[in-house]
Amino acid sequence: MQHYDVIIIGAGAAGLFCAFTAANRGRKVLVLDHANKAGKKILMSGGGYCNFTNLYTSPENFFSKNPHFCKSALSRYTPYDFLLLVEKHEIEWIEKEEGQLFCKHKSKDILQMLLKECDQSKVKIQLRTDILDIRKLEEFYVKTNKGDFSSESLVMATGGLSIPTLGATGFGYDIAKQFGLNMIKTRASLVPFTIQPKLLEKISELSGVSLSVSVSSGNQSLTGNLLFTHRGISGPVILQISNYWQPGGLIEIDLIPGVDVNQYLLDQKSAHPNKEIKNILSELIPKRVSQVYCEMWNINGQIKTINEKQLKAIAEKFNLWSIKPSGTEGYRTAEVTLGGVDTDELSSKTLESNKVPGLYFIGEVVDVTGQLGGFNFQWAWASANASGQVV
Ligand code: FDA
Repeated sequence: MQHYDVIIIGAGAAGLFCAFTAANRGRKVLVLDHANKAGKKILMSGGGYCNFTNLYTSPENFFSKNPHFCKSALSRYTPYDFLLLVEKHEIEWIEKEEGQLFCKHKSKDILQMLLKECDQSKVKIQLRTDILDIRKLEEFYVKTNKGDFSSESLVMATGGLSIPTLGATGFGYDIAKQFGLNMIKTRASLVPFTIQPKLLEKISELSGVSLSVSVSSGNQSLTGNLLFTHRGISGPVILQISNYWQPGGLIEIDLIPGVDVNQYLLDQKSAHPNKEIKNILSELIPKRVSQVYCEMWNINGQIKTINEKQLKAIAEKFNLWSIKPSGTEGYRTAEVTLGGVDTDELSSKTLESNKVPGLYFIGEVVDVTGQLGGFNFQWAWASANASGQVV
């Protein structure tokens, strides 16, 4: 049996950050992961460029049963703190829209930075290790297929359920349940929608096409890029709205945001009565898109042949395309998992379990989920910092 001060399960964003934070305080730290590589999600993130934080991070960017829970950790480790670390490692970065910071070169830069910090602080990382059993007697005992370990503190940094092929499992949730902690029901989020085969067939030609739209679900409205896929719809604005959508609910899409299509058509009718309505609509949205929708909704003919009531109905279709997704692509492609370990069970200052002293949950395994835009990594860093300071 090898003894460590701290054992961390999960060599992802939160686990690695917590590991070197604790080790820099002189703690002897072991990180265990079943995957063959550390930080696989970091490598895949941000389209390969890792959107590692967001300068405008605030508690309002997170979903949780208790919206106040994330405040303490976020206020003690800010995006600027992480940026200092990035700059210390001379990683070049760029700011995209709305404070989103990305690597200028590759996501690998962030992973290498975390691994270097772990290496310098003498963290031991053991990969390809299956955790067979976890017990707590006077301390924690971790039985694996590669040896048995004991520690004073145990940190669960096993992430959420999204993308099993990148190593995601529900193990953190199982351990929470084993120790009697309450869980908030999980759900795939930041995830593309699938749509019914009949409708999909009609718009299948648009697969790969992207356009700027406004989307509403419930009382939330967002504007951004939608991407048509061979399964349904995706793109940043769709991933973002998936946080608010409930199964069975409608989403409303304004395909031509910022334009009063009815007024535009009336103006065009008096200015160019002989023009084909399809061509008029193509002036507002990409031609391929207008053609597919005109075909689907049976819209054709010279605009002079279409009366005002009909024009109004056509405009409404484009300004308010209402669809009922058949579902989402689920954990297979979701970026994150909503829900997780109930924040009522944890200290917001340290992320330690209230019931089981020495047991910590950090990162995505906790019921704190960020919007799209670098917030999920900022939560991983901030929650890992909060626990790393005390484990
Ligand atoms: P993370 O998932 O990073 O790490 C968990 C670790 O635990 C993994 O190494 C896993 O192998 C290990 N593990 C799981 N089960 C285990 C078990 N049973 N035994 C041992 N080890 C186990 N966020 C963001 O802010 N900006 C972005 O650009 C992106 N982009 C992005 C793209 C894609 C494709 C995905 C899937 C996700 C994102 N995200 C993101 C979300 C972000 O990646 C995510 O929120 C963080 O990685 C969460 O960090 P954690 O350390 O909590 O879990």
